Amino acid sequence: MKTLPLAGLALALLIPLHAPAAEKDPQTGLIVAEGWETVRNNCTACHSAGLVTQNSGSRNHWLGLIRWMQDTQNLWQFDPKTEETILDYLSTHYGVKEGARREPLPRELMPVNPYKAEATSS
Ligand code: HEC
Repeated sequence: MKTLPLAGLALALLIPLHAPAAEKDPQTGLIVAEGWETVRNNCTACHSAGLVTQNSGSRNHWLGLIRWMQDTQNLWQFDPKTEETILDYLSTHYGVKEGARREPLPRELMPVNPYKAEATSS
């Protein structure tokens, strides 16, 4: 009887380690997480969800895309709550990619800054 709670504890500790990568909807490829159905319902009518899943960026990036589609591609307006759900989902699961920015250049590889005092001496 003593081993049972221990076994449960061991299982509880093991399960997160073996958690599979994010589950994806087989139809659309969208990551199955809070809000994904709202995205499926609103974002796959005109183009494949592939366009969505290939893209990534900040919340602002996604908002910009939505506004662009609303302004130029006949995307309908969302009520604030729906838009919130869509932006939360996209920025969480298709957010800024880690390492998407290159490392800053080392100082010696930077061009001379023409606005710096010593650069103007001649
Ligand atoms: C009313 C039609 C319509 C709906 C609905 C729609 N889009 Fe689009 N979207 C477009 C069109 C048209 C393009 C341009 C397609 C192309 O370039 O082939 C596009 C392009 C895109 C692109 C690619 C942009 C790029 O820079 O190449 C992304 C990402 C995208 N849409 C995301 C979404 C998301 C997220 C939603 C849901 C909020 C959505 N779309 C809903 C019409 C729509």
